[in-house]
Parts: sequence; structure tokens; C-alpha cells
Amino acid sequence: MSLVRPMKRRRILKWITRAILVLLILAFLVGFVAYWRSTNECDLKTAPTNPMKAIVYCEYGSPDVLKFEDVAKPVPNDDQVLIKVRAASLNALDVFMIRDTWFGRLFFGLRKPRDTGLGRDVAGQVEAVGKNVTQFKPGDEVFGICRGSLAEYAVTIERALVIKPPNVSFEQAASLPLAGLTALQGLREGKIQPGQKVLVNGATGGVGTFAVQIAKSLGAEVTAVCSTRNVDLVRSIGADHVIDYTKEDFTKSDQRYDVIFDNVANHSFSERRRVLNPKGICVLAGMGGAGIKTGEAMGRIAGNLFIARGLSSFTNQKFAQYMTKLSKPDLIVLGDLIQAGKVRPVIERTYKLSDAPEAIRQLGAGHARGKLVITIGEESR
Ligand SMILES: NC(=O)c1ccc[n+]([C@@H]2O[C@H](COP(=O)([O-])OP(=O)(O)OC[C@H]3O[C@@H](n4cnc5c(N)ncnc54)[C@H](OP(=O)(O)O)[C@@H]3O)[C@@H](O)[C@H]2O)c1
Repeated sequence: MSLVRPMKRRRILKWITRAILVLLILAFLVGFVAYWRSTNECDLKTAPTNPMKAIVYCEYGSPDVLKFEDVAKPVPNDDQVLIKVRAASLNALDVFMIRDTWFGRLFFGLRKPRDTGLGRDVAGQVEAVGKNVTQFKPGDEVFGICRGSLAEYAVTIERALVIKPPNVSFEQAASLPLAGLTALQGLREGKIQPGQKVLVNGATGGVGTFAVQIAKSLGAEVTAVCSTRNVDLVRSIGADHVIDYTKEDFTKSDQRYDVIFDNVANHSFSERRRVLNPKGICVLAGMGGAGIKTGEAMGRIAGNLFIARGLSSFTNQKFAQYMTKLSKPDLIVLGDLIQAGKVRPVIERTYKLSDAPEAIRQLGAGHARGKLVITIGEESR
């Protein structure tokens, strides 16, 4: 009896080991096939019949992989809008997409980037619409989100676009979508109320400059955290108080906040909790902008996801993380804010389409002042 049991256990163990081994071999084979099947249109070496200029990347790497090339002009399907792009703006996402990281490869293509176009934010003129599109017609001036906006033309679904307010330039409208939505939706996660004290960490990048202004428009008292060279900039967009992070650590101050809107995540949850009011909320928007190294970002993501999130379920001070959602009503809110003069996009510099690689390099350095915008038209050639 005592001999049978260990034998049975050994047999079970053997079967489990075999099953794990088979699963590992299968996973390896699937991964191997998926890796070698992963390709993109750069492998089809045919010249486009109806060409347009665009920024494309066939391989992962530094901004040097970006090429200004002729590609096929997109054709909208029944549900899509074709936009003649007049301006596009850059986001940390664009820098991340071209970087060679295992994490990025899982999302954007194992061996090569699946989608060779770059850019998400767009503003331009409707050129044509699919037969199911009811809200737009050729000639309408629009802004919103689409894939591959660093091009003369791009297509997207009508849900991703809204009419551009007439007193807003294409450059201003193009700077709004992703960064503006991230700021607006993040401040909502913080359940921000008029009169509350809000601290924005990383206040001078694309998201931060919108977060400061939107929080002010919602009646908050805003403290902006930035480096010395940006103190005047955050004051000019309405920050009530400024903390220069090169001289002072906001988590060591005696001030308390109702909401911390954090674009950087360079402090532990216990450090941030120290400066939160008893029922305060820390909203994590990002990991430190386009300049952050992948390993460092992963460390911050893990720390925030597993430690901060876990700890916050035992405390009254809450920790919130979110993914920016495409929302037409929110794009309209942003358009209204800018039209009413409550939000003024901060544009550090505009670039020609052919100079987009230089702009990506600049954003990747991690110290953008507001948004970098690409203007597109005849002059982009
Ligand atoms: N949750 C989402 O779904 C979502 C969506 C979009 C973006 N994001 C994330 O949001 C984050 C911010 O994006 P972004 O477009 O604003 O990036 P960005 O334009 O590259 O801005 C980075 C800013 O961070 C500031 N900064 C760097 N180190 C800092 C520090 N130690 N303390 C305070 N500020 C510091 C820089 O200011 P200085 O030059 O003064 O150092 C710079 O202005 C990124 O991590 C991005 O991935 C998240």
C-alpha cells in the first residue's frame, strides 16, 4: 500500500511533466510560425498606382527607420471617411511603436511592424466618404483619430471624427485628440470637483499641458510639477502653483491634494499617498513621456499595477489607472473647450511631413513642451 502511493504519485508527476513539455514545444512552434509569418506590405515591392507621400517604417528601430515615401493612397470602405490630412500631431505612442521592444512586438507585429504607417492624431478636410457614412460630406473640416495620419491622406471611421471648430487652426485641432482625451478622461477618473486641489506631475508634455488647462476649466486649484525651464510656460497656461522638480520633491511637501494626475509615476504609492487628502485619488496617466526607457517603464507599470493598485484597495485613498478611449462626445467637449478659449494647445514646434523623423527624435528625447505638430500640404513634399 505504502509502495503503491509513491508509484502513483510518480506516474502523475511524469504525466504532468510530459504535458508541460508538450505545451512548451507547441507554444514554441506557434510562436516560431507566427514570428516568421509576421510580415508587412514593404515586402511587396510593387510601385503604387495612385501614390501619395507618407511616413512609413518597415522595421523596428531608431527614428532612422522612418522613410518619407510614395505609398498607395487609401480608398475608404463603406464605413470610412477619406481625409486630406492638413496636420497631424505626435504622441508618446508613436515613439513607442517604432522602438524595438519585445513588449511592442507582441502588440504591433512579432518580426516586423504589421501596420507600416505612423501617427494617430489628425486634422484635415473630408475628401470622400463611404456609402454608410451619414455625418460627414466632402469638404467638411474635421479632426480626430486615425491610423497612419503622417501621410497626405488617411482613412478612419466616422465615430473617430468631429467637425473642427471654425476658429481653430488645423495645427491646433491636430494637437488635441489623444493627449486631450487622455487628460479629460483621466481627470474624470479622479472625480475632480470645483475648488479641489489638483497636482499634475509632468505638466508640460502633450498630456500635461491639456490636464492643467482642463482642470482649471473645471474649477480646480492646480499645482503643476515641471523642470526649471518650463515654470513660466505652466504659469502662462493657468497653473496656480508650480513645483520645480529639479529643486523640490512634491511628495515631501506639507501640502495635500484631492487629486494627483500623474504622467510620470516616478514616486511610490506610499510617497504619493503621503500628499493625498484622506479620500484623495491618484490617477496614473503615464510612465514619463516618450523619453522613458522600456525597462524603466515596465518597472513603473508593474509597481503601479501590482503594488499601488493592490495597496489602494486597503486604503481610503484610491489609485486609478485607465486606458484612453476613443469617444466622439469627448472630442466634441475638447473642441468646445478650445473654441471657448478655455484651452489653448501648446505647440512647441511644427514640422514638414518629410521632417517627421526629426520630430519623432525630438519627442523621444522626453522633454517636449506641449505638442509637436506635423503640417501637411504641398509644402510637405
Ligand atoms: N493612459 C493612457 O491611455 C495614455 C494615453 C496617452 C498617453 N499616455 C501616457 O502619458 C504619459 C505622458 O504623455 P505625454 O504625451 O505628455 O508625454 P511627453 O509629451 O513626452 O511629455 C513628457 C513630459 O514629462 C516631463 N517630465 C519628465 N521627467 C519628469 C519628472 N521627473 N517630473 C515631472 N515631469 C517630468 C517633461 O517635462 P520636462 O521637460 O520639464 O522634464 C515632459 O514635458 C506617457 O507616459 C504616455 O505614454 C497614456
